Amino acid sequence: MTNNPLLKVPQHVAIIMDGNGRWARQQSLSRLEGHKRGSEVAREIVTTAARLGISYLTLYAFSSENWRRDPNEVSGLMTLLKHYLESEAEEFHKEGVKLKVIGQRELLPNTILTLVEEVEELTKTNKTITLQMAISYGSRAEILHAVQKIGQKVRDRRLDPENITEQIFEDHLYTAGIPDPDLLIRTSGEQRMSNYLLWQLAYTELLFVDKFWPDFTSEDFMETLITYQNRERRFGTAA
Ligand code: IPE
Ligand code: IPE
Ligand code: MG
Repeated sequence: MTNNPLLKVPQHVAIIMDGNGRWARQQSLSRLEGHKRGSEVAREIVTTAARLGISYLTLYAFSSENWRRDPNEVSGLMTLLKHYLESEAEEFHKEGVKLKVIGQRELLPNTILTLVEEVEELTKTNKTITLQMAISYGSRAEILHAVQKIGQKVRDRRLDPENITEQIFEDHLYTAGIPDPDLLIRTSGEQRMSNYLLWQLAYTELLFVDKFWPDFTSEDFMETLITYQNRERRFGTAA
C-alpha cells in the first residue's frame, strides 16, 4: 500500500471567497479595493489548484442575493469582473483552464454575458482544470430551474415522473456533468452556506478559515488540503 498524500488531493474544491469588505475596512480602503485584491487572490488560487492536480475548482464570486447591495458596489463588481475576464482569458487558455459560468446568466449585463460566452468558447476543450465561476448564482434558483425543466419534460410526456432519479435531477442543474465537491472552504470566519451548491454539498467536507479572502494565500490553501486529507469520509457507513 502506498500512502502518497497526493493520491488524496480532492478532485473538486468549492470556495466561498468571503471577507473582501471587512478586509478593506481594516485597511482603511474602499470595499471595491477589497474586491480587487480578492480577484488577485482568486487568480493565484486557480493556478495553484491546477498545479496541484485538482480537476475542478468552483468559486463563489457573486450571489443572487448580492444584487441587493448598494448599486455602486454592484456596478464596481461587474466592471471588475469584466476586466478580470478580459485580462485573464488568454492566460487561462495557456494554462489549460476551462472556464464555465454557473448562475442566472440572464441577469448579467450584456457586455459581461458576451465576454463569458467568448471565454467559454475559447477554453472549452481545455483539460488541466475546470474553473466554475458562480456569478449571479443561487442554489435555490438553480434547483427551481431544474424542477421547471423536468416539469416541462413530464408535461410533454418525454419523462415519466417515476423515472426521475438523482442522476436525472443532477443532469438538470447548472453543474451537470461535474462531480460533487469533495471540499468546501469558506473564508472570513462566517459559518454558513449562503445559498451555495445546496444539493451538491450533501457529502462534502466543510472547512471554515478565520482569514479574510484577500489575506488567503496558496500556503493557506495547501493547509486546507492537508486538513482534508486527514478527514475520514464515511458517506453513511459505520465508523
Ligand atoms: C465577498 O466579500 C465578495 C462578494 C460577496 C462579492 P464580501 O463583499 O461579502 O465581504 P464582507 O463579507 O462584507 O467582508
Ligand atoms: C457569499 O457571501 C457570496 C460570495 C462570497 C460571492 P456573502 O457575503 O454575500 O454572504 P452573507 O450575506 O454573509 O451570507
Ligand atoms: Mg460577505
